[in-house]
Amino acid sequence: MRRPRRNRKSPTIRSMVREHEVSVTDLMFPLFLTEGKQIQHEIASMPGIFRHSPDEIKKEIDACLALGLSSFVLFPHIADSLKDPYATISYNQNIYLNTIQQLKSDYGDSICLMTDVAMDPYSTDGHDGLVVEGKIVNDETLPILGKMALAQAQAGADILGPSDMMDGRVGFIRDLLDQEGYIDTSIMSYTAKYASSFYGPFRDALDSAPKAGDKKTYQMDPGNVTEALVEAELDVQEGADFLMVKPALSYLDVIKTLYDQFDIPIAAYNVSGEYAMVKAAAAKGWLHNDSVRNEMLLSMKRAGAKIIITYFAKEYAFSLKR
Ligand code: PBG
Repeated sequence: MRRPRRNRKSPTIRSMVREHEVSVTDLMFPLFLTEGKQIQHEIASMPGIFRHSPDEIKKEIDACLALGLSSFVLFPHIADSLKDPYATISYNQNIYLNTIQQLKSDYGDSICLMTDVAMDPYSTDGHDGLVVEGKIVNDETLPILGKMALAQAQAGADILGPSDMMDGRVGFIRDLLDQEGYIDTSIMSYTAKYASSFYGPFRDALDSAPKAGDKKTYQMDPGNVTEALVEAELDVQEGADFLMVKPALSYLDVIKTLYDQFDIPIAAYNVSGEYAMVKAAAAKGWLHNDSVRNEMLLSMKRAGAKIIITYFAKEYAFSLKR
């Protein structure tokens, strides 16, 4: 009789036959940057995650490096007084660009630093693109994203992450980078970014919620998967180095579909709301934080994500060290 249970009979055999595992080098850790000194402001809806001032962010990176975690995605929290409808500050001297430059000069290639390309943290409208008469206009947004991307490349970012979902932005940014000589700056496209309700805690972290309307005319409809293939094809043609699916947990089928159809690495963004719900349930004693976390990360890897962007990265790295 065939007995599949034989391969489960001991921890050693189970680990020998295990097909997928999450290692610390698969993970990228999002970090929130804010102005000031010695600031570590915990995000209420994301226990364990902070807005850091530039001095504190270095301490956080040092702690991560000691755990073997060396890839980061940096997001800026910008003071309201610096925002305008055109996100002008995004490509002029600002705390984000200065910090990218400082970190890359201090750490060099011992860290991989990804940045975010979208207007929302800098825009008085809180939208990822330019708002004209209540509409998010695509082609007028591209030059703004281009300037932002170029400024981030000049500051030394390893990977640019266009999270804005404007049509044509990957190609627009790639051409501009190449013209200006930044041929080694990578692009991780937010390929299939859904108009999701799981981003709430992130918008708390950055104060970046849209002032009016929602993001449904540019972010994807949660009912669609074939459309993700269209986005992925365009991103590959336009020169993306990685394809990302976001959120992760409710979109494992989309990760799997892209993994099966494309030959560049797939990333999953395990977003703020997915983190918050585990933390909330664990605080109530309803779920076990570590085992649920590990199972969630594993599901993303099994679906085909080589890279997982997750707020759990640091605690996961810590648990592996123990
Ligand atoms: C904005 C951006 C968002 C996230 C990453 N970049 C929010 C949004 O689109 O409203 C969400 C990340 C998360 O929820 O963890 N360009």
